[in-house]
Amino acid sequence: ERTYEIATIPGDGIGVDVTVEACKVLDAAASRHGFALRWTEFDYSCERYSETGAMMPGDGVATLSAFDAILLGAVGFPGVPDHVSLWGLLIPLRRAFSQYVNLRPVRLLPGTTSVLAGREADELEMVIVRENSEGEYSTLGGRHNEGQPGEFALQESVFTRVGVERIIRYAFELARTRSRRVCSATKSNGIIHTMPFWDEIFESVSADYPDVAAEQCHIDALAARMVQQPDRLDVVVASNLFGDILSDLAAAVTGGLGMAPSGNINPERTRPSMFEAVHGSAPDIAGQGIANPVAQILASAMMLEHLGETEAARSVDAAVEKVLTEGRVATPDLGGRATTEQLGSAVADAV
Ligand code: NAD
Ligand code: IPM
Ligand code: MN
Repeated sequence: ERTYEIATIPGDGIGVDVTVEACKVLDAAASRHGFALRWTEFDYSCERYSETGAMMPGDGVATLSAFDAILLGAVGFPGVPDHVSLWGLLIPLRRAFSQYVNLRPVRLLPGTTSVLAGREADELEMVIVRENSEGEYSTLGGRHNEGQPGEFALQESVFTRVGVERIIRYAFELARTRSRRVCSATKSNGIIHTMPFWDEIFESVSADYPDVAAEQCHIDALAARMVQQPDRLDVVVASNLFGDILSDLAAAVTGGLGMAPSGNINPERTRPSMFEAVHGSAPDIAGQGIANPVAQILASAMMLEHLGETEAARSVDAAVEKVLTEGRVATPDLGGRATTEQLGSAVADAV
């Protein structure tokens, strides 16, 4: 029997609740499609930080690198500063495993409370291709003149030619398998070093893809367009920070944060890729058992696809769609009263 070694890091808050449900659904899909998933759970989290002073042990990266893939819940919880927890776990993993593509597909799902609900589902389907290893997320900079009137903080961005080119090329390749349209998020009217550089590389890569329609859009106008004319978008390629913001926006217009999956992809497959929801640990609803597990379930379907189990991945997507269409089992964010566990079980049963 085909067996995959999967590391799970449930992490913090609702990350724990939704990861249990995703594992349950994947086990159902695996047994139906004739393969097995061997799960190994790691306690890397804010709780661990509070006990040991580190989000993960020193050999954490080495340990995880032996797995076929990683399923991550969410990281971050009040009590540990976010920059400490995130730079102690999530961001270093993305970098250590060269997961330079953050793939965030969304589509209008049935049963959603989206502002656009009621439109045809196929009218609205897009994917954010987010740069995941550099850009605005950088340790360069510092605090100066602390406590003085002239106090300031500097934060530098790093855009390398290799880094920008590979993410843009990935977006064009992906567009060839979809609508043949790529929109690049820019801000070269205001950000005068990195963004003109990004645009220049976008133009030169686009010349290699005459069959793909390429356009650039300022991030501010793009944000408006994503709400008002989202059907005109398909593949959206963006820097690390712009892609982060756009992915929550794209999630919101298609059904909310509870429905949007994400894959941190190492395209060369030299290291494991890591799958998670777009959303975070949601401390405001943590411990209540009411988080929507769909985003994490769809992320785990992306993991199956990445592992080559395409049919099983499709069956998970279809099960989600079936349960949402029926609408009987819905968490509060979807206007229902079901628990995380009930929605997860409904999807697992539908698989
Ligand atoms: P969040 O995504 O955790 O929550 C934003 C809002 O959406 C909250 O009101 C929350 O209740 C709601 N929400 C999110 N997921 C939901 C779900 N599955 N079902 C129902 N409602 C859901 O964002 P935040 O509040 O900015 O961040 C909370 C913590 O999570 C912070 O520590 C942040 O740094 C961290 N975070 C981690 C990740 C990650 O690990 N990948 C991603 C984003 C944020
Ligand atoms: C995400 C999150 C993270 C990011 C944070 C928690 C560092 O918002 O995965 O979208 O910005 O990458
Ligand atoms: Mn985010």
